[in-house]
Parts: sequence; structure tokens; C-alpha cells
Amino acid sequence: MNINLKIIDSIARLKKEKDAIILAHNYQIGEVQDIADYVGDSLGLSIKASEVQNKVIVFCGVRFMAETAKILNPAKTVLIPDESAGCPMANMITAKDVIELKKAHPDAITVCYVNSTAEVKANVDICCTSANAVQVVNSLPKDREIIFIPDKYLGSYVRSQTKRDLILWHGYCPTHVLINAKAIIQMKKDHLNAEVIVHPECTPEVIEIADKVLSTGGMLKYVHESQNTEFIIGTEIGIIYRLQKQNPKKIFYPAQKNTICPNMKLINLEKIMWSLEDNIYEINLSDNIIKNARASLERMKEFA
Ligand code: 13P
Ligand code: SF4
Repeated sequence: MNINLKIIDSIARLKKEKDAIILAHNYQIGEVQDIADYVGDSLGLSIKASEVQNKVIVFCGVRFMAETAKILNPAKTVLIPDESAGCPMANMITAKDVIELKKAHPDAITVCYVNSTAEVKANVDICCTSANAVQVVNSLPKDREIIFIPDKYLGSYVRSQTKRDLILWHGYCPTHVLINAKAIIQMKKDHLNAEVIVHPECTPEVIEIADKVLSTGGMLKYVHESQNTEFIIGTEIGIIYRLQKQNPKKIFYPAQKNTICPNMKLINLEKIMWSLEDNIYEINLSDNIIKNARASLERMKEFA
């Protein structure tokens, strides 16, 4: 038996023994997506995590996603197979920064992208993902100021869609800023029938020339339902695996071949097996953080 098949067998055995479920983000490597029980975007994963009945959740994604699973389903053991899988954007704002921002704008409502730490989420009013950020902001009272953290590009996209004057932070995704508008314009000339679909973490220049701006889950749904057969995809390239698997006859061009999130690629089959064998690395959060962060995540879930 080849080594990968042996590992896959062990994972299946350990999952039964430990009563575990494997959740994976759309940017995970193909092998991980293939053995996961559920693959999705941040919103889908949050909802799925909150409904899990198993004792253990092995979360294949980055830390803020595993923390979100723990916050929404605190009785479960949540494991992340590589403890260094972080999100640089989430680390661009601290809870102290949020407290100071709120002091400077005492009447503002604070909306927080889920790409943030649990401590930050515990200090905000409502969370959002890229799939529901526009609806969340649209739902807020018109006479209130809004602080939107930490992604300035998602924030400026939401501002353009809602016409609300958001107070932004200076966070961004180091992977999505690699996507370049000029390169996409050239690709459109080479592939005249291709539709350009980008993630709202891209820069405003990229968003301006896109045909559609969608979360990773939104991209999968849109492409599946579209009559079109060619797409230029402006997001982390891990999603191309899933797009291709679900739509074998359609053609996908990554807007930029090096759009790779190194943190999303840290998890592999061996690490999932070790994670289940040794119960590593467990996500532990204080009761207080869970209580406060949960309130803002539960409000977000109403916009699923
Ligand atoms: P989605 O929620 O659209 O999957 O995005 C998560 C993310 O980290 C994008 O970089
Ligand atoms: Fe964070 Fe960007 Fe990686 Fe998404 S792609 S997890 S925002 S660094």
C-alpha cells in the first residue's frame, strides 16, 4: 500500500476511535480537501463548526478559523494540526488597538472581519466574513458611525457597496495584495471569454476591473451555476483545485500564479494523523474571551 493510502487509513481509524470530524478551508492542499468531512469558506465553516456533534474537531485552516470553531462550540476539543498556521492579517490589530479606536469613536458600532484574533472579537459588536460583510453593514442603523476592522481593502469594498462612511484600520492580506490589475487586463486580452472573479481582500484597482467580487464559497457557487466556461480567479490558488474538481469541463486561470498563503499550506496528511494520535494542537481560550467573542459571532451567524 502506498504511504498516503496508509496515512488515510490511519486517519479514518483514528477519527472513529476519537469521534472526530475534519473541517477544511477551500485553500487547503488537495489531499487535505479530499479527506475532509466538510470543505468551505469562513462562514460555512463557522456554521458547520457550531453544529458539530462529534467530540473532536480537527480544523484544517488557520488559527483564527479554529478559534472561531472553539468559540461557537466550546464543549468540543478543537485541534489545529500545525500550531504555527496563523493569518498575518489577523495579527495586524490587537485588542488594545480596538479599545483605543472605540475610545476615539465612542458612539461607533464595531464590525470585525473574522480574520482576527479571539481577543479582538471579544471587544467588538458584530463579526462578518467576506460572504456577508455587506449585509452586516447594511443592517446597522443609519445614524451610527461604523468602525470596520482589520482589512482596509474588504472595508473599502464594503464602503463602496453600502455607501456607509466606514472608519477603517490598516490591515490587509499579504497574499491577496500580490494580485495585480495590469496582469489581469493582459489576461483578459488573451482569454476574451473569461470572466474575472476576485476576492474582496484584493486591492480596489483589482476589484474595479473584476466582473464579480465573491467569497471563496460564493465563487464555487457562482462558477457552478454559470453558463460561462472560462474564469480568471483572483484569490489564493488553493481554490482552483476545488473549482476544477467540481467543474471538470470548465477552464480556470489563476490571476497570479504565486498567490499562495503559506500558512494555509502548512497542514498535510501526516500532520492530521499526528494531530489525532496525540491530540495536538488544542485550541484553549479563557471562558471570558469565549463568552464575549461568541456574542459577536452569533450576531454574524444571523447573516448566513
Ligand atoms: P473566505 O471566507 O472567502 O473563504 O476567505 C477567507 C480568507 O482567509 C481569505 O483570505
Ligand atoms: Fe490570512 Fe490572507 Fe492567508 Fe486568508 S489568504 S488566511 S487573509 S493571510
